[in-house]
Amino acid sequence: MRLRRAQKSPAAPPDLRGRYGPAALVVGASVGLGAAWAEALASRGLDLVLVARRAEVLADTSARLARTYGVKVQALPGDLADPSWLADIEDRAGGGDVGFAVVNAAAAPSGPFIASSFDTLEQTVAVNCLGSLRVARSVLPGMAERGRGGLVLMSSLAGNQGSPGLAAYAATKAYLRVLAEGLWYEMRPSGVDVLACVAGAVDTPGYSASAQAHAPGTMSPAAVVEATLEALGRRPVVVPGRLNAVASTVMLRLLPRAAGVEVMAKANKAAGLAGLESARGWRGQASGRQRRAG
Ligand SMILES: NC(=O)c1ccc[n+]([C@@H]2O[C@H](COP(=O)([O-])OP(=O)(O)OC[C@H]3O[C@@H](n4cnc5c(N)ncnc54)[C@H](OP(=O)(O)O)[C@@H]3O)[C@@H](O)[C@H]2O)c1
Repeated sequence: MRLRRAQKSPAAPPDLRGRYGPAALVVGASVGLGAAWAEALASRGLDLVLVARRAEVLADTSARLARTYGVKVQALPGDLADPSWLADIEDRAGGGDVGFAVVNAAAAPSGPFIASSFDTLEQTVAVNCLGSLRVARSVLPGMAERGRGGLVLMSSLAGNQGSPGLAAYAATKAYLRVLAEGLWYEMRPSGVDVLACVAGAVDTPGYSASAQAHAPGTMSPAAVVEATLEALGRRPVVVPGRLNAVASTVMLRLLPRAAGVEVMAKANKAAGLAGLESARGWRGQASGRQRRAG
């Protein structure tokens, strides 16, 4: 029985329009992973409602996808951190037509925690946690009522454990993973699939802006999206990429927590994360440790 299930992986791309409904909402859709999500969904025939802050970039992406795939694309410029803008997101996105949603936008400040302003840290929670929570709370009831739907929350390997240099961001990504796991269980009886995508490094404008070197296992946005689509409805969490999946297992199940945090600290430094050059306190701590160890 177990063997049969393992052999059942779909050869054809999932029929998302038939499975979830005619339209998809992607929040954070103009570039990077969000644009890859929009493209993958449009290529499967879903109409799109796309959200991002910069209206012009969003309009370009929307026009390109409408032209290429012949689907309807509605561009809704807006900010995931703005509760009043989000209040009626489901209605503005076409209500009952939205059968699938991806919450992809994130704020990702890097550098030492104590060098970040409180506003920056608060904004990180507002976008990544509260914004995602609002979108989930807006779209899930309708999906449950209709008996079908899908929701993907974008998490990160950084959120598997403490992540020095990305401490607040990593904590919000842990929140999203745990939220998705709970929702996966709660929504399953209603026919709604919820999934956390725990991505490793992905080659996007956001990643290039914050890291100076490609981490091992860096993936293309399209590959991350395809791996996530394959996992939908099968489990609560997916870690795209074999190397990332192994790294995730080692960090979560084999290493003691403190050792996992040390590994993340080294990885973030090796990637040359923006802001860490000035991480005086944090660097001092790490080199002090090395000196003691040596
Ligand atoms: N890239 C990686 O290595 C990596 C790794 C693990 C997880 N992830 C996760 O994957 C997701 C996408 O990352 P990415 O690297 O593709 O990001 P990105 O290149 O920075 O793109 C982010 C997208 O979201 C939009 N956006 C940002 N803030 C927004 C807000 N407050 N409201 C609405 N839209 C907003 C941006 O457009 P505007 O600026 O115009 O709003 C853009 O379209 C994030 O959740 C991130 O945590 C990424």
